[in-house]
Amino acid sequence: QQQEQQPLYRQLSLAADFYTHQLRQHDQRQRAVDYLKGRGLSGKAAKFFAIGYAPPGWDNLIGSLGTTPADVKQLVTSGMLIEKDDGRHYDRFRDRIMFPIRDIRGRIIAFGGRVLGDDKPKYLNSPETPVFQKNKELYGLYEARKIRQKLNRIMIVEGYMDVVALAEYGIHYAVATLGTATSEHHLRRLFKLVPELIFCFDGDQAGRTAAARAMETVLPILEDGLQARFLFLPDGEDPDTLVRKEGKEAFEKRLNQSRHLPEFLFDHLKQQVDFDSLDGKARLDQLAAPLISKIPRGTLRDLMIAELEKQLGVHSRAMDKINAADTSAT
Ligand code: CTP
Ligand code: MN
Ligand code: MN
Ligand code: MN
Ligand code: MN
Repeated sequence: QQQEQQPLYRQLSLAADFYTHQLRQHDQRQRAVDYLKGRGLSGKAAKFFAIGYAPPGWDNLIGSLGTTPADVKQLVTSGMLIEKDDGRHYDRFRDRIMFPIRDIRGRIIAFGGRVLGDDKPKYLNSPETPVFQKNKELYGLYEARKIRQKLNRIMIVEGYMDVVALAEYGIHYAVATLGTATSEHHLRRLFKLVPELIFCFDGDQAGRTAAARAMETVLPILEDGLQARFLFLPDGEDPDTLVRKEGKEAFEKRLNQSRHLPEFLFDHLKQQVDFDSLDGKARLDQLAAPLISKIPRGTLRDLMIAELEKQLGVHSRAMDKINAADTSAT
């Protein structure tokens, strides 16, 4: 299977070369260059991430890479061309800043493309292909490991520009999911590389919702010794805008002060109940126990139960019920 995909990888790599070349020589490159400069990007970072430019027009990629019918067919398979009902083809990415997505080995497997202005959709990604599964890949992971093989922690952000801007400012350990929620597969993979993950989503409602979901996703993976933390940004900021405003040191200070999962879990749940009333506390027990029980048996889980009981002031009956159900099931 690996063998079979060889030509696909090769073609995707040629497509990336094509886009980086266009950023240097196309008639309209100045618009793209100005856009990137306007976002504070240096040539060095653009080069490191192999950022390119897909020029306007419907047949640029066909014209340069689709020389034979077999090439065209493969460009469709790799998601770079779209096939119309009448059998004709056109370029998927037009007049966009191109971010090549690499797998852990550095092979280009897909692209994300951003419009230069306010057109919709703002970002367009490659579809799923034989070499690209969105819920498995992480943008920036290969690049982070290229800078430093042995990482201490990894930050998970929402977007390409967040990863690139953080790197521009010297924070080389951020990765982004690709327009999907953080999956258990993503997290298992990252925890094989580092003992600490910091989620840092946008300072908006979508970002806060994503953080709560990530918290639930990470629970079953939290073996003792692993840590998940959450950095919440001021309203309206994302890592890109904030690191530009504050710089590396202030941003890393925020990271170092970010909330640990246990604290976030209890704060998040307490917001959903009237904690000052006894029935509110009973409800907290009902909400917290199913979450805590997702954590693998170990010290962290025991500590979380102890904390829940401290908050309740009594033994957790919701935990008892879950434990009893577990025992009878096995
Ligand atoms: N995304 C996507 N498709 C969209 C919108 C977003 O795949 N239509 C993904 C992209 O990976 C994007 C990330 O979600 O980088 C974050 O989205 P968003 O916060 O909306 O991007 P912005 O920060 O607004 O983008 P930019 O800074 O480039 O304006
Ligand atoms: Mn957002
Ligand atoms: Mn942004
Ligand atoms: Mn954003
Ligand atoms: Mn007890």
